[in-house]
Amino acid sequence: MPANLVIVANRLPVDRVQLSDGTPGWRGSPGGLVTAIEPVMRANAGTWIGWPGGTETDLEPFEFDGMNLVPMTMSADEVENFYEGFANGTVWPLYHDLVAKPEFHREWWDSYVSVNQRFAEKAAGLAAKGATVWVHDYQLQLVPQMLRELRPDLRIGFYLHIPFPPAELFQQLPWRRQLLEGLLGADLVGFQLPGGAANFVRLVRQRVGHKTHRDLVYLPDGRTVRAAAFPISIDARGFEELAQSDAVATRSKTIREALGNPRRIFLGIDRLDYTKGIYARLRAFSELIADGHLDVEDAVFVQVAVPSREEVEAYKILRDEIDRLVGRINGDLGRIGRPAISYLHSSYPREEMAALYRAADVMVVTPYRDGMNLVAKEYVACRFENDGALVLSEFAGAADELRQAWLVNPYDINAMKASMLEAYHADPRELTRRMKAMRKTIRQHDVAAWADSFMTELSHVDNTHAKPV
Ligand code: G6P
Repeated sequence: MPANLVIVANRLPVDRVQLSDGTPGWRGSPGGLVTAIEPVMRANAGTWIGWPGGTETDLEPFEFDGMNLVPMTMSADEVENFYEGFANGTVWPLYHDLVAKPEFHREWWDSYVSVNQRFAEKAAGLAAKGATVWVHDYQLQLVPQMLRELRPDLRIGFYLHIPFPPAELFQQLPWRRQLLEGLLGADLVGFQLPGGAANFVRLVRQRVGHKTHRDLVYLPDGRTVRAAAFPISIDARGFEELAQSDAVATRSKTIREALGNPRRIFLGIDRLDYTKGIYARLRAFSELIADGHLDVEDAVFVQVAVPSREEVEAYKILRDEIDRLVGRINGDLGRIGRPAISYLHSSYPREEMAALYRAADVMVVTPYRDGMNLVAKEYVACRFENDGALVLSEFAGAADELRQAWLVNPYDINAMKASMLEAYHADPRELTRRMKAMRKTIRQHDVAAWADSFMTELSHVDNTHAKPV
């Protein structure tokens, strides 16, 4: 049945796993996106197109939890050139302020074009007449335009989950014009922050030469494209309820005991990515111990690093660096049964994350650049007793909303040390004042409100009068 709503994202909201009987099957990976979109999907007989990971072929569309899922398989060549190459070796570092050096390879670009074309064709084949298609993230920036060419009747939205860089960085890209034109195929282009939307509009004016006014772009065919900010969020109530559950309370107590009941637990949870600032953060913590400001009997840093993009060279190097740093810090500063850093290279289910959030006194989120950072918001949602401290990078999108966090420049190690120490010693009333304000923000702007505002704005766009030129 043709779908009235099609979600196009590089990932499906499920993982390919081995079931207990040994046969391959699917397991839900309840990220924020699927939680937000599920109700809209159900209401509109929605279909989700995405890559299931890996290179398995012959995967048929299937129903999962009431959603229609359509796997987009990828060849080994596409994984290498499209996913690891152009998406994560070119766009990812370029859009994150060149934290790592982006590489420009023509064969990566060719693969990006052809994979985007395949996604667009798949969506064009599944969407009902006049349907809404919502395309997600930096892996699929050409899809809106490709799709519009195939299906001018569709309403197309695009949302970028990562930062959109200033013109000075973006224009290094040899294919800058093509990417801008790709995005302009959408009726509404959504960004995390107003700055990203403004960067985009300015680039379109300068590089493509279209007329613009505030957040609008006027195209020669009469269409108007709107570029605006829609800061993404989390299922705040869901996290809060989970954190309050007996199972999470028990687990959180067990975690504290396993760590030797220290006075304060510091926590970092990140994908193992060079944008996240893990190295500098652990160094800052270790210096606080070496300087005598903290003692391993009183404080421990739990760092969860979720494995990510492990075939990409920059991620391999990062992993080795962090492994070495943790080894050195624990070797130099730890005592028997008291490591300075408890390092976990693994991914965990939501329940375990909630237990960690509940156990942690100081959450340290210090990326060099981050579109939003949902971990910061999850921590706040889980602190239902209005305690706990958040140390947050100024360069995470979340810093725009979570103003009561200890905001830091992650490049300034001394400033990070000072903030971590302040958070460690903070007066309980001060913690409550800050946390209460942040919790209010998170509750008001949850992920349902985010999806709702994007879909509402998209439904208001009227480009029916536009004629192809
Ligand atoms: C970021 C991106 C997502 C991506 C996720 C995991 O949050 O914005 O698009 O899916 O990282 O990365 P991966 O490469 O495993 O899909």
